[in-house]
Amino acid sequence: MSASFLSEHEAKPALDVFPAFFKVSGKRVIVVGGGDEAAAKLRLLSETSAELEVYASSISPAMEQAIQLAGATLFARDYQFEDFADAALVFTAQESEAEDALVVEAARMVGVPVNAVDRPDMCDFITPAIVNRSPVVVAVSTNGTAPVLARRIKGMIEKLLHPRTGALARFADAFRRPVAASNRDGRQRRLFWERFFDGPAAQKALDGDMAAACASARDLLASSDEGDHGHVALVGAGPGAEDLLTLRAHKVLQDADVVMHDALVPMEIVRMSRRDAEIISVGKRKGCHSKSQDEINALLVEKAKQGLKVVRLKSGDPMIFGRAGEEIATLRSHDISYEIVPGVTSALAGAAEAEIPLTLRGTASSVIFTTGHDLNGKHLPDWAQLALSGATISVYMGRTVARQTAERLLQAGLAAETPVAVLENVARPDQRRLVGTLSDLQHLQDEKTSPSAALIIIGEAVAAIRLDQSIPLVEAAPILEPNSISQTEGLAA
Ligand SMILES: C[S@@+](CC[C@H](N)C(=O)[O-])C[C@H]1O[C@@H](n2cnc3c(N)ncnc32)[C@H](O)[C@@H]1O
Repeated sequence: MSASFLSEHEAKPALDVFPAFFKVSGKRVIVVGGGDEAAAKLRLLSETSAELEVYASSISPAMEQAIQLAGATLFARDYQFEDFADAALVFTAQESEAEDALVVEAARMVGVPVNAVDRPDMCDFITPAIVNRSPVVVAVSTNGTAPVLARRIKGMIEKLLHPRTGALARFADAFRRPVAASNRDGRQRRLFWERFFDGPAAQKALDGDMAAACASARDLLASSDEGDHGHVALVGAGPGAEDLLTLRAHKVLQDADVVMHDALVPMEIVRMSRRDAEIISVGKRKGCHSKSQDEINALLVEKAKQGLKVVRLKSGDPMIFGRAGEEIATLRSHDISYEIVPGVTSALAGAAEAEIPLTLRGTASSVIFTTGHDLNGKHLPDWAQLALSGATISVYMGRTVARQTAERLLQAGLAAETPVAVLENVARPDQRRLVGTLSDLQHLQDEKTSPSAALIIIGEAVAAIRLDQSIPLVEAAPILEPNSISQTEGLAA
């Protein structure tokens, strides 16, 4: 992880528990108590390869069953604290807190971590919800705050993980030594494993066809890594919410050696990249460019020529006001392979959040994606005529030219009462929705705001917007401060 990556992160919440896995194979794990709670814990422990011992002078029918299922040894007497010596773990689930407290004290005397079932304050460790695809194990904990949530998350992960994920991990393990002995350096080893898990070797292993899986893995091992040229992916990060990132974008991020991201991409999304990926903020905010487009192009070429996988991460969709055209031309001219991973553009995400149908039968049959800077010149752009015939206009980077935008559209003949929405920070926690008319739009430029990304939608279809949680444009912009122009707007493409 690069230093710049660290410095740009907000502080993460501190962990009150540290996840780790106890080795229990062949070791003694002790359950004290003969009731149903103790039986439930024993059933969970029966998934391990530990030597299980139960200490209880009397046991419930459920415990009798659990002992049989787990192949545990029952000591039908009270425990002695010497019983705990050399055990890996002790669990206690007795009727009274006082009885559990004595077990906790005894276990701690001999230095064995102890868990008192349903008494979190007395525990040295907590038991998570477990997804078992051994040797792949996923443990989920909410640190006791929301056990039902932990079970839900476990359910989601169960669905995500192929039932043969464990078999795949064992199969991969069999190739670890041959790969280590194959003279590949660290990066080439990682490439091997990425191809292994993305390719036919892993797929066949998941299908249960181990002969074909072995053959594919051997072919891969024998193949040379020559020709491993760098590759660039221009990736759309969506408007800001993590769950609006596409699965493909997520995968490409996970594989990247280098991630070059724009200022508008939230760090939560940048952080979805591999932990050891190099993270470079190329900034690009109006008024404060951390890198020029030429510098970005040069950096893309430099990193790709080092044979690295580069993700150029842009807000929204890379092909909409994302300078993708220039980057593609540069990559082509250097014969560097590239791909484009689309993202949810902010106009579409904004329309969804605000419930504005961009096309509306009988009202709006076309949509224009434009930039406010289009209206800066002497001549009105062609689409101004389309606006008259009812198109919905989505204006990117329009805040600082809101007044010109309103004036020029009025000049083109658009009615002053045409509905307008300004959608700020779409799909982010601080999103805001302002509504008004075309004649109100000039006020936006006067608004004293904190820096924010804003999208302006103009057209009759906007009248369908959700009015609750919408702020009138005129009320939102009472303070005229000439130097309070937003700095977050991206550059015109
Ligand atoms: C350089 S453009 C990038 C557009 C981006 N490629 C897309 O598809 O959304 C930057 C402009 O996109 C708009 N924008 C990007 N993210 C936004 C968001 N979360 N909310 C509102 N507008 C956004 C703003 O108009 C901003 O000035």
